[in-house]
Amino acid sequence: MNFPRLSITLDRFCYPDGTTALADIRLDIARGEFTGILGANGSGKTTLLKVMDGLIRNYSGKVLLDGADILKLKPREIYRKVGLVFQNPDDQLFAHTVFEDVAFGPRNMGFNEDEVQRRVRAALVQVEMAEAAAKNIHNLSYGQKKRVCIAGLLAMGHEILLLDEPTAGLDPVGEQRMMELLTALNRDHGVTVIMATHSVDLVPLFLHRLHVLDHGRVVTSGRPEEVFTAPEPLAAVRLRLPHVAELFHLARHEDRLPFTTLPLTIGQARQQLRDTFLVHSAHNS
Ligand SMILES: Nc1ncnc2c1ncn2[C@@H]1O[C@H](COP(=O)(O)OP(=O)(O)OP(=O)(O)O)[C@@H](O)[C@H]1O
Ligand SMILES: [Mg+2]
Repeated sequence: MNFPRLSITLDRFCYPDGTTALADIRLDIARGEFTGILGANGSGKTTLLKVMDGLIRNYSGKVLLDGADILKLKPREIYRKVGLVFQNPDDQLFAHTVFEDVAFGPRNMGFNEDEVQRRVRAALVQVEMAEAAAKNIHNLSYGQKKRVCIAGLLAMGHEILLLDEPTAGLDPVGEQRMMELLTALNRDHGVTVIMATHSVDLVPLFLHRLHVLDHGRVVTSGRPEEVFTAPEPLAAVRLRLPHVAELFHLARHEDRLPFTTLPLTIGQARQQLRDTFLVHSAHNS
């Protein structure tokens, strides 16, 4: 059977203080998808990732991992397939050095020491932290800690990666490289990637599918071009269009410039500028 990798039917989840963090969630994550969970602060992204990883269990509803009820699986069966990178690196890192932290997962999975060394080195190269292997975790910057957390997951080689704001705190080049790395894992190694984010400018360049959360509910799902169609619905959930789309929207509606579609990336915008103005200037000359 070709099950979705994850299938979530969740009626309600409340935290012990009574906060309803998720309600009426129905979503499937297909094999090999690169999915974004998009939403403002407090919309339920972290809670949803914890549900997908089997960390939160006392909800009403059902979560299936490759067709099996996640609540009936042993922790080992979940962690063999699914890895979660926490939003806050201090919740994840615990060893003394970078190397030891990244090595913990593969050692725990039973790989021999040569293989552990190989995996740790490769993962640290992937996140551009190889130079820092011997460094004390506590002395790393926030962005460096974030990279080490992701290396820890990469070294284990999960089939499904859940990442909570993986680009938060990274510098512009680091942000781009992180997205390229996740794209390569997804495209070349078939890893199913689900990431929580509110970086609307990054999303259309990389993600296949989006689920927009607001107050614990999925309000829109679709490809980036289906979700980013106008500013108003996004503003209603405390998000916005990517900057380049906002510029074209304003130019079209406020300045009556003859743009027909809303570009979401610099590349699409450039193409539309050429189509509009090179054609116009050819007509006028
Ligand atoms: N342990 C907890 N106890 C009580 N309420 C919680 C707890 N953790 C989260 N919440 C509440 O649940 C809701 C969803 O929180 P969650 O952390 O999932 O949001 P988020 O979308 O990840 O936000 P952010 O963008 O700030 O990371 C919020 O209203 C939050 O205050
Ligand atoms: Mg969060």
